[in-house]
This record gives sequence, C-alpha cells and structure tokens, in this order.
Amino acid sequence: MKIIRSSKKMSQAARECVATGKTLALVPTMGALHDGHLALVERAQKSADIVVVSIFVNPKQFGPDEDYLNYPRDNRRDLALLRERKVDFVFMPPVEDIYPEGFETFVSVEQITQTLEGKSRPDHFRGVTTVVAKLFNICRPDVAVFGQKDYQQAQTLKKMTTDLSYPIKFIVASTVREKDGLALSSRNQYFNARERAEARCLIVGLRAAHEAFKAGETSLIALKTLISVEAEAICPTIKFEYIALTEFETLEPLDAPQKGAMISLAASVHGVRLIDNLRL
Ligand code: PAJ
Repeated sequence: MKIIRSSKKMSQAARECVATGKTLALVPTMGALHDGHLALVERAQKSADIVVVSIFVNPKQFGPDEDYLNYPRDNRRDLALLRERKVDFVFMPPVEDIYPEGFETFVSVEQITQTLEGKSRPDHFRGVTTVVAKLFNICRPDVAVFGQKDYQQAQTLKKMTTDLSYPIKFIVASTVREKDGLALSSRNQYFNARERAEARCLIVGLRAAHEAFKAGETSLIALKTLISVEAEAICPTIKFEYIALTEFETLEPLDAPQKGAMISLAASVHGVRLIDNLRL
C-alpha cells in the first residue's frame, strides 16, 4: 500500500496505472473509517484493478458552526485498516494542497442540492462537489464508489458526474448498519453508551413507516407521525430537523407514499446530528 500526500504525485501514480492498462476505482472518505467505508472499499476492489482511498477532512463542506475542528481523525488506525484490506493507494493530502492560497473555483449542482440537507446546511454540497471534482481530476478513476447512507450526496455527485461528462462508472453501495439498525457513521463516536443505545430510534421509526406503507398506509402525515412517535418512544429528547418523502432520482417532494420513493430524515440525537433514509 502506497501513501501519497500530494496531488501531483497522485496524478502521476494514477496516470502510470492507466498506462499499464489497469482500471482504477476511487473511494473518497474523510477518514475515521468504519465498516461502512470498508464495504465501499470491498466493492471498489471487485470493480477495478487498482483501488485508491482518499482521506481528506474537507473544510469547505462544513458550516461555520459545524464540527470541522473536532471531526474524528485517526490516521494511524485508518491506514492499518486499509493496509489489512490491501488497498493500493491512500491519498491523504494536506488542506493547502487541495486549497492553495487564492483558491476560488467551485463546482455546484444547482437544483437537487436545494432540499433536505441543502436547506439545513447551506454551501455543504458545494463543498462536497468541489472536492470530489478535484479528486476525480487528480485520480482519473474509471469507477467511483459512494454510500447510500448519504443519499442526497450520492445523487448530487451522480448528477455532477453526468453533467460534467466524467467518464466514470458511478456506484452507490447500500448502507451498512449496526446490529440494532443504527447506520454506521464516524459521528457515532460522539455518543456515550446510553446515548448510543437510543440512537437506534431513527431506523426504528423509518422501519415502522416502511411496515405501515407495506400494510397499505397512504397518508404521508400518518407516516411522518409514526416515525416521530416511534423515535420519541426510544429517545424522548430527539429533535427532528426534517422528515421528507421524495422521488428517488430527482428528489422532488412527494405528497403521498409510493413504491420506490425515499424517506430521508435528519435529527439531533443527544446533540449529535444524524441522517438516515429508507426506500419504500
Ligand atoms: P464520509 O462521511 O467519510 O463518507 C465516505 C463515504 O462512505 C461516503 O460515500 C458515504 O456515503 C459512505 N458511508 C458512510 N457511512 C456509511 C455506511 N454506514 N454504509 C455505507 N456507506 C457509508 O461522505 C463523505 O465522507 C464526504 O462528504 C466525501 C464524499 C468524502 C467528500 O468530502
């Protein structure tokens, strides 16, 4: 496993791979790796000859009141996990390599970033698309792998890939969950044991809504109420930011549940902002 810390060297290494006729898959991450990230790595290894994992806590996607400085960082552990999985390259540039002084060019996907997370986190997606566009340009992957856990992010990046004509196969892998259903997230580290146990409230609510839909519920209000009632029964202090039902590809809001639609939510659970989703 080779660790590369400069974009110039990364570009060079990627070009050398391509010259030998090998295909390259990229898995962008912000580190603090868990089994969700590692599932993406496995998927990448099945999809291409060479796998690059990037680890970069991207300052441009955090709002001024968000956890950029406190975001969990553990390079030594991350590198050990990736070495174990026989990843070919880890790209971990310093901030000034990606954003040198005077940096002023951004990539933004205009429409589908306006709802859900985009409403709660202005400029977040602009930061995500800009850094991923840079990673695509530096690594020139044939394949890129993202997680369904960050559904709107995956759809936004897919749109960017199409709109900007990147010749990249875009893979979205399913959400990896703990035994109790909590979606793995680097932010789960912020919980103590009691809070962690209550964090399953989100998926419990989502699964209850899914069951109700399968049993014939046709009212969106009833589904939303069910989600909040079920979640509050486990975590009475939960504060929902949004519960939304959208068309899967376009993220257009829907008035009534239908098969294939997406329910997404964001909530503060003991002060930690979590997101999750489930497809009907
Ligand atoms: P990060 O939160 O580190 O996530 C990296 C990738 O792992 C994303 O594609 C995310 O959707 C996926 N992922 C996270 N939790 C997952 C889970 N439980 N199951 C499956 N996949 C999961 O998302 C980012 O970083 C950044 O925004 C990034 C795309 C790297 C741009 O900075």
